[in-house]
Amino acid sequence: MDEVHGKVALVTGGNRGIGKEIALALARAGTDVAITYRSNEEEALSVLEDIRRMGRRSAALRLDLNQLADLDGFIDAFGWLLARDFGGRQLDYLVNNAGFGKAIPIEKLTFADFDTFNDVHFKGVVFLTQKVLAMMRDNGGVVFITAAGDRYNVPGYAAYAACKGAIEVFSRYVAKEYGARGIRSNSVAPGGIVTDFNNAAIRSNAQAQAYIIGQTPMGRLGHADDIGDVAAFLCSDAARWMTGQRLEVTGGFNL
Ligand SMILES: NC(=O)c1ccc[n+]([C@@H]2O[C@H](COP(=O)([O-])OP(=O)(O)OC[C@H]3O[C@@H](n4cnc5c(N)ncnc54)[C@H](OP(=O)(O)O)[C@@H]3O)[C@@H](O)[C@H]2O)c1
Repeated sequence: MDEVHGKVALVTGGNRGIGKEIALALARAGTDVAITYRSNEEEALSVLEDIRRMGRRSAALRLDLNQLADLDGFIDAFGWLLARDFGGRQLDYLVNNAGFGKAIPIEKLTFADFDTFNDVHFKGVVFLTQKVLAMMRDNGGVVFITAAGDRYNVPGYAAYAACKGAIEVFSRYVAKEYGARGIRSNSVAPGGIVTDFNNAAIRSNAQAQAYIIGQTPMGRLGHADDIGDVAAFLCSDAARWMTGQRLEVTGGFNL
């Protein structure tokens, strides 16, 4: 195990769903991986075990992007974690994945709903990225998991998708401002993926599944590892000439 010279990644929301598959794909590619979880510590510990079985280092930290007053404390704890569990190395890759889904029509949207979407999907991602970039090694990268719904517009997802669209713009600015340090920034826009997202809205709804499959040239539902592999690719040397890009990963949904 090349512990001293290997790369280190941080994946937010890495305890389940898409984030878990991103963490596992990174570990398979030889990267040591720290993950965050909000409430499901047991799931996080189980992902750490999976990563360690692949011979990579791993650690987990709690992060709630809906509690931004705690962000500096998280950054301090993460610095300490890098020293303790990752041999004092700096971070190479940040994958901003954590998030939640809730369908709220525009006419029912409240200030409080908006603030929660904004904190978790936009403001929190911007300031976490700003603070992590300050502790990142040159020639690394940032990946933002956004949503293809910012292109094809699903009723009820206005505030959510608008935040994801804002992050796509932010990702391009990170590419612009950090390119001189060799840091790349790209976003991945998944279509509907079978996870717990929005109370398992896809997994628990046969009608929604049939509709999605019918609109998907690849003729199946998307799974978390379909996104994990693409995010891991962006965190690899194979993607060294890609920055400021949006990759839509949907099996061609609603082309
Ligand atoms: N699934 C889809 O159809 C789909 C489509 C497009 C984009 N996405 C995006 O993909 C990302 C991952 O979604 P998923 O499908 O994997 O969802 P998921 O299975 O519900 O997992 C969500 C993850 O985010 C964490 N999380 C939730 N709220 C958080 C908060 N306030 N602060 C910090 N972490 C929080 C959760 O932690 P705990 O488990 O500890 O609560 C969990 O690790 C999200 O950004 C989502 O918007 C998903």
